[in-house]
Amino acid sequence: MGSQKLCLFLVVLSAVALAVLAKEPRRNYDGYTVLRASSVSHEDFNTLAKLRTQSSYDFWSGPVLGRTADIMVSPGEQAELESFLKSNGISYSPMIKNVGLAIAEEQEAVLASSDPQAAMDWNSYYPLETVYSWLEDLERNYSSVKLINIGKSTEGRDLIVVKISSGGNSTKPSFWIDGTIHAREWIATTTATYVINQLVTSNSSVSAELLSSLDFYILPVVNPDGYEYSRTTDRLWRKTRSILSNTSCIGVDANRNFGYKWESAEESGSTPCSITYPGAYPYSEPETAAVNNYILDLITTVDLQAFITLHSYSQLWMTPWGYTTDLPENYNELMRVANKATAALEAVSGTTYQAGSASNILYGSTGTSRDWAKGVPNITYVYTIELRDTGRYGFVLPPEQIIPTGEETWAGISVAAREVANATRFN
Ligand SMILES: *[C@@H]1O[C@H](CO)[C@@H](O)[C@H](O)[C@H]1NC(C)=O
Ligand SMILES: *[C@@H]1O[C@H](CO)[C@@H](O)[C@H](O)[C@H]1NC(C)=O
Ligand SMILES: *[C@@H]1O[C@H](CO)[C@@H](O)[C@H](O)[C@H]1NC(C)=O
Ligand SMILES: *[C@@H]1O[C@H](CO)[C@@H](O)[C@H](O)[C@H]1NC(C)=O
Ligand SMILES: [Zn+2]
Repeated sequence: MGSQKLCLFLVVLSAVALAVLAKEPRRNYDGYTVLRASSVSHEDFNTLAKLRTQSSYDFWSGPVLGRTADIMVSPGEQAELESFLKSNGISYSPMIKNVGLAIAEEQEAVLASSDPQAAMDWNSYYPLETVYSWLEDLERNYSSVKLINIGKSTEGRDLIVVKISSGGNSTKPSFWIDGTIHAREWIATTTATYVINQLVTSNSSVSAELLSSLDFYILPVVNPDGYEYSRTTDRLWRKTRSILSNTSCIGVDANRNFGYKWESAEESGSTPCSITYPGAYPYSEPETAAVNNYILDLITTVDLQAFITLHSYSQLWMTPWGYTTDLPENYNELMRVANKATAALEAVSGTTYQAGSASNILYGSTGTSRDWAKGVPNITYVYTIELRDTGRYGFVLPPEQIIPTGEETWAGISVAAREVANATRFN
């Protein structure tokens, strides 16, 4: 080997070594447990809501008033949490005994379909690259589809909105849907793409009728950095991946980072290491800034009537507000539509949903995209949907449930969209 070749060889070798070293090992959840605490009384609910913001426990879900709170603990924290619950008279039981095992089972199915060239068939959770190349194919194949790049994430990934429009009347009311602002809620992305697929490729009379009266704007992955990180490194990652000053903890809860009723970490009692850290200031995250800027610009020319943000899990269909238990001015109309939508959803395979205002059925929350959508652009129909399940698997929902979740949620969303179209027809 000549000295030049040797030199090149050494450069390549050290680059490979660096890449290997830089790759963080996959986070291990062996022995982690999810405890389900009951939140039946107002007092228990308040105790658990406070624990959620002020402790470092990872609340997978809730507290939901009158139901439960699901709290993940490491083996080292479990005794402390159990004694806290006991001393507050809150009953609890194990929901998932070994989180690591649940993740390992899911990984087998996911790895089998991690080839970026694989076709999307909603039998697995796909890498971002697969989702995006599917969207590009759709745009090439269907004139009703237009991809709009609304900005870049912290790590430089594109934020892609899919506009679906059958053309014609340029003043059609519009309907926004987004998913996976929280990285680990993978079912939100598969459900958003399921809805896109129904609208674009199904040729169904339902889709044709909806597209004759509405345009859709769908952002399937609000937090692509977090989504990829949850696939490669930490399955239960929730936040963005931004580097914060003055702490080694990473990322912001993008769904606490919007500039409507935003509350600082000091005010909410959280810290940069909390899973609900709101960021140093509103829109500190490029992802939330992009959504804010895009929608505020959109509504100067488009009549945006509805905003649905997809999350998991708990099977809830929620109206604003999160920051107050007061009800929004059009609550009765919001609930009329929510009740029709959840009835249609439940009719598909019997999955039950609860509808109501976010802060009245769930813990309070500030700086969310839902409250922003109602409070800033003043969109008429605004909902957060917490998808399947109610805790049997939580975030680690088996891939066999992707299609059933898509089918039933599409039934609910299409009924909501029909109601929105009817209500705005004669405006
Ligand atoms: C787009 O069309 C090509 C060629 O017909 C086809 O192979 C591909 O599956 C289509 N993709 C989508 C997402 O419609
Ligand atoms: C939908 O209709 C188009 C054009 O009429 C056709 O090319 C396409 O194959 C149909 N798709 C399905 C899923 O039936
Ligand atoms: C950095 O964090 C420490 C510990 O939380 C705090 O005391 C200090 O004021 C912070 N400094 C800045 C510049 O925020
Ligand atoms: C929001 O829109 C509703 C219905 O169009 C209207 O009655 C209300 O005054 C608006 N609120 C604000 C703050 O602009
Ligand atoms: Zn969420």
